Amino acid sequence: MMSELRNGFIQLQDLTKIYQTEAGDFLALDSINLVFHEREFTSVVGRSGSGKSTLMNMITGIDKPTRGRVVIQGREVQSLKENQMARWRGRNLGIIFQFYQLLPVLTLLENVMLPMQLAGLGTLAQQARRAYALLKLVGVAEHWKKRPSMVSGGQQQSTAIARALANDPPILIADEPTGNLGTRAGANIMRIFQNLAAQGKTIIMVTHDRELAGHAQRTLTIEDGRITNDTNGLEGARSMRADLNVSFRGNQL
Ligand SMILES: Nc1ncnc2c1ncn2[C@@H]1O[C@H](COP(=O)(O)OP(=O)(O)OP(=O)(O)O)[C@@H](O)[C@H]1O
Ligand SMILES: [Mg+2]
Repeated sequence: MMSELRNGFIQLQDLTKIYQTEAGDFLALDSINLVFHEREFTSVVGRSGSGKSTLMNMITGIDKPTRGRVVIQGREVQSLKENQMARWRGRNLGIIFQFYQLLPVLTLLENVMLPMQLAGLGTLAQQARRAYALLKLVGVAEHWKKRPSMVSGGQQQSTAIARALANDPPILIADEPTGNLGTRAGANIMRIFQNLAAQGKTIIMVTHDRELAGHAQRTLTIEDGRITNDTNGLEGARSMRADLNVSFRGNQL
């Protein structure tokens, strides 16, 4: 377990978040120890208020834990300075926020171009072409010229997904990515995620929806800030036991 914690692609160690409010302290994440494996598609399910978005905000470094650490690719996220963090995040993480966070003054196309511009990837023409192709992939290309306020919530959400894919990041963190999409658009996004997983992306997807969660290889359940079920847990434990057996026999020889 400890060596797995050290070697995991994304490691959460004693991750704890206490929100301080006027009503008192609120324990939103309760000492979570967890590993996300490289190239694995994991879903995170849990009731409203269970801590899903809080967990994502810790992993992406958008908010700081009260205690504990997030280590991604050997790098402690919270130890990075703000500008280093922004640069690293821009290249490595595609983040789909629960409430989209599109920039209201930019068109949909410009919103999707922005991460490429910030990372200095490609020429303006290349950025525009890629942004358009991504809008097409998620089904909203016809609205490319519009600002977010001129399209539906679902179309904004689709745009946010396109934006998260702009820099072709190895890691995708998605907080309720299909929460506002209709059945067809939602199924399209799940197909896209599964293709990305097959291409070797590491994906963490928060959802209320158990059926959607079933598209992932592994499902974590969070309740009151604790992981109470991990479909990978048993399997992981079993394969580690197999490893132990192998090395035990090796020692005997
Ligand atoms: N900034 C904050 N200050 C105080 N309490 C907060 C803050 N953000 C979240 N909380 C509380 O922490 C708990 C977890 O919130 P979080 O947003 O992580 O839940 P969630 O699982 O994402 O819920 P939902 O499914 O509704 O999005 C909730 O009880 C919430 O009220
Ligand atoms: Mg949430």
